[in-house]
Amino acid sequence: MKPIVCTGAMDAETLELMDGLKGAHTVPLGCWKCVAGELDGYPVVVVRTNQGMANAAASTALAIERFAPCAVVNQGTSGGHSPDLHTGDLVLGQRVINMNAVRTPERARGMGIDPTCGQLLGLEIANPHPGDGPKQTVFEADAGLLRAAQSVAWDKSSVVCGVIGSGDVWNNELDRIAWLHEQWGTLTEEMEAAACAQICAAYQIPFLGVRILSNTAVHGEPFDARTGIDCQRFVRTLLREYREQNGC
Ligand code: 5AD
Repeated sequence: MKPIVCTGAMDAETLELMDGLKGAHTVPLGCWKCVAGELDGYPVVVVRTNQGMANAAASTALAIERFAPCAVVNQGTSGGHSPDLHTGDLVLGQRVINMNAVRTPERARGMGIDPTCGQLLGLEIANPHPGDGPKQTVFEADAGLLRAAQSVAWDKSSVVCGVIGSGDVWNNELDRIAWLHEQWGTLTEEMEAAACAQICAAYQIPFLGVRILSNTAVHGEPFDARTGIDCQRFVRTLLREYREQNGC
């Protein structure tokens, strides 16, 4: 049976899953911490990607090459954009977007800058064929993974489906956060999901991003690392649901 690779950037986002693995063993994976084993009777590989898009992309590519997983789930903490969400609420990434992939309009020297004028810029999906690859900035969730996530019984907080915004950025300007929310529908932001999704698109591996709000500038709620544990508990159930629903 192929494993599911589950990625998270930090100890606070991966140790709960790693500690739950039966027959856990560390596997060399470049510069990244990687532990394989069984979770609830199914093979799972947990990778600590470290923070940011480059780390997430590189470690995801290595994990796919090494384990040929049937699916990849990126999960962890995030900062809320939606006024409807608070710390502890969960966002199932129906789609993830790379908020930093932006093309600005031409503007003459002296005409100033406007951070709200960029349009999403397609990023090339890697492939071994001649010529340019297809371009994508928005990555849709795998339907089966999303279905499994939606069927998790969870009464600790709200669980909503929507857009997760990724980038090597931590936004604190409330006007910018409101603009991202209005322009692209982002419910929360973090720094890895779209990079994992882009690599999964290249390898055509089913992908889902799941993020818990660990903070939200919208409501002045500071970072709470303990939320990472709840996110992993949710994802553990999601993985079991996925296996049971798909028999793989
Ligand atoms: N903005 C960006 N990244 C955040 N993270 C948690 N909250 C935020 C936020 N408001 C996550 C990122 C990264 C680390 C800093 O925590 O995904 O891994």
